[in-house]
Amino acid sequence: MSQTQSSSADITSPAQTERKNVIFSGVQPTGNLHLGNYLGAIRNWVAQQNDFDCIYCVVDLHAITVPQDPQALRTSIREVTACLIASGIDPDQAVLFNQSSVPQHAELAWIFNCVARLGWLNRMTQFKEKAGKNRENATVGLYSYPTLMAADILAYKATHVPVGEDQKQHLELTRDIAAAFNSMYGADIFPLPEPQIQGVAARVMSLRDGSSKMSKSDPSDYTRINLTDSADEIAQKIKKAKTDPEPLPSEMAGLDDRPEARNLVGIYAALSGATNAEILSEFGGQGFGIFKPALVELAVSQIAPISEKMNRLLDDRAEIDRILKKGTEQARARAEPVLAEVKKIVGFLPE
Ligand code: TYM
Repeated sequence: MSQTQSSSADITSPAQTERKNVIFSGVQPTGNLHLGNYLGAIRNWVAQQNDFDCIYCVVDLHAITVPQDPQALRTSIREVTACLIASGIDPDQAVLFNQSSVPQHAELAWIFNCVARLGWLNRMTQFKEKAGKNRENATVGLYSYPTLMAADILAYKATHVPVGEDQKQHLELTRDIAAAFNSMYGADIFPLPEPQIQGVAARVMSLRDGSSKMSKSDPSDYTRINLTDSADEIAQKIKKAKTDPEPLPSEMAGLDDRPEARNLVGIYAALSGATNAEILSEFGGQGFGIFKPALVELAVSQIAPISEKMNRLLDDRAEIDRILKKGTEQARARAEPVLAEVKKIVGFLPE
């Protein structure tokens, strides 16, 4: 397996020369988006949409790799779309669409299933985590999840992919698939996309356990701040967040064995745009009785407007559907010629 050169790619230094930068990323419509999604990925999507060619996708095909209630899935696709717009994605600047309405994703994923090797997929830690002990009962879709992800990215020949830390291994596999396809067919068609993983918030942890990731699938809602939470809910969750009795240290080294404290400092830093060290120089020596209310104020000022805007958007479902339809048309127009090129290279007859 290839290793990416660095976990945080600089957009100004493209991996391959003479390719136009294209940014692609996706999010699953499987419930509320949370602070980890926002700080680890979405904020970084928003930051790039005015300067680069950006394509953002609600990945509903990925969602059904585990069982979903059809009505809840439909609702979630619209809610996540509204949440992305409320978080700052501008559908007039970036292409915003849902994956299942662009058939080229599934088509390219099949071709990549015939390129990727079992040994590569066997190494995927996220499959092992999600399948758990009952691996024989996991769907084939869950197993081949990363080949669909590679197809999402490469159907647009994307060069950069802003994601959280947990997607790094999938991005490495995408690079391996791109390189293997290019070499199998002697074609220089696919770029090797660079992950863009933002340092301070690349892995936001649970509010109740600093050793596990903040996640939509955690049964306790107190482990995460949802982008749909009200000011009161945010305040309650931060108030109840696990901490320790010590005051905050003035230096980073003082957080070494304090994962929960480190996580809250990291969240504060990411929300305020400062570094962890700067936050510690401000709060060093203070207890959580001072720090938590400051964090509540900061989190509420940034998250509450998102949930208000999202609720307003959801009042007009037809408008959300129109936005997705426009994005779908734009995405199809981009993916169709790439698929035509791939099919020709593979040896299929022209349509
Ligand atoms: P998903 O839906 O789990 O998460 C969406 C994005 O949020 C990031 N993220 C986090 N970042 C920091 N801390 C956390 N606790 C945290 N939890 C989630 C994820 O890293 C991700 O960037 N497989 C992807 C969706 C996908 C995709 C793609 C992404 C499908 N195709 C192509 C990029 C390119 C996923 O399940 O993300």
